[in-house]
Amino acid sequence: MLSNLPLGLLSAAALLFPITSAQCNGQVEYCTRSWSNITTVGSHDSPFVGDSLSDNQDISITAQLDLGIRFLQGQTHMSILGNELELCHTSCLLEDAGSLTDYLTTIKTWLDANPNEVLTLLLTNGDYVGIGNFSASFEASGLDTLCYVPPTSPDVLPINEWPTLQELIDNGTRVVTFLDYDADMSTVPYILDEFSYYFETPYDVTDSTFDDCSINRPSGASADGRMYIVNHFLDKDVLGADIPDRDAANTTNAVSGTGSIGAQTALCESLYGRPPNGILLDWVDLGEPIKAQDVINGVSS
Ligand SMILES: *[C@@H]1O[C@H](CO)[C@@H](O)[C@H](O)[C@H]1NC(C)=O
Ligand SMILES: *[C@@H]1O[C@H](CO)[C@@H](O)[C@H](O)[C@H]1NC(C)=O
Ligand SMILES: *[C@@H]1O[C@H](CO)[C@@H](O)[C@H](O)[C@H]1NC(C)=O
Ligand SMILES: *[C@@H]1O[C@H](CO)[C@@H](O)[C@H](O)[C@H]1NC(C)=O
Repeated sequence: MLSNLPLGLLSAAALLFPITSAQCNGQVEYCTRSWSNITTVGSHDSPFVGDSLSDNQDISITAQLDLGIRFLQGQTHMSILGNELELCHTSCLLEDAGSLTDYLTTIKTWLDANPNEVLTLLLTNGDYVGIGNFSASFEASGLDTLCYVPPTSPDVLPINEWPTLQELIDNGTRVVTFLDYDADMSTVPYILDEFSYYFETPYDVTDSTFDDCSINRPSGASADGRMYIVNHFLDKDVLGADIPDRDAANTTNAVSGTGSIGAQTALCESLYGRPPNGILLDWVDLGEPIKAQDVINGVSS
């Protein structure tokens, strides 16, 4: 039909009815869906990139974002000098992936260049330092200006009241940030207290079947009203230490099959009646994490 129209009319029609609609995180469907009702695969220990025994990822933060990963997790510790937060694996003596300010600046630069993308950020506070150390890095990087503050702040926003991705994008609040310990939502409202919002399944799993969706943290928590994060990254025991199992990543990060993203999600869904909000993975470039995410969310790849 359209091909019979004169060219001028055709381009007018294209303006009125764009053939490709705007997408949010790569899917039209997500634009109108509540942020709390989308399953997002995440990069566990996202800053630890390389091939040493303590690394968890193969590709840089920017490459992870380019791949479609919209949930980044990172561990922080105080620098050896004790004056700045760094992304360190267990201790800054073991592995130091640079300052929190640089990490957040990398993310801010990417988000500025990609205006239809919404990111979830989960930081850990391994040294239990005061929240001012975190807000200092957020403000130095400018990422604080993109962070979402719930309308109920400092109280928790109920799970069914979250905005859609399009609303977050339109409001310029495209980063939803959580901290595991010592958040202070009265002082720094854009860093949300992880365990007021979520529960997590066990981490440092060494059973490749991932046959466990029990509530690990906060201990004794109820699932009711809480979002949840599944720790779907496999460790193997090497001389008594838990090491990320890169050799198994194709199977661990598969869409379906024993021990896959899809299999553990189905188990969790059978327990809690809804899919996870976040699924943390090592080696996000291996297996098919985005395909698994599409299948769980019921969107086409
Ligand atoms: C979540 O989104 C799906 C797909 O749009 C929808 O069918 C479902 O009702 C939503 N669930 C909630 C709790 O809003
Ligand atoms: C950083 O954390 C330390 C240790 O908790 C605390 O004494 C200090 O006040 C914090 N710095 C800022 C700027 O809040
Ligand atoms: C968008 O921003 C306006 C003005 O700050 C606020 O009233 C509204 O609640 C925000 N909407 C969402 C979905 O966050
Ligand atoms: C993972 O799968 C890819 C693609 O099939 C393959 O090239 C690679 O060798 C596999 N890696 C491992 C560690 O099995």
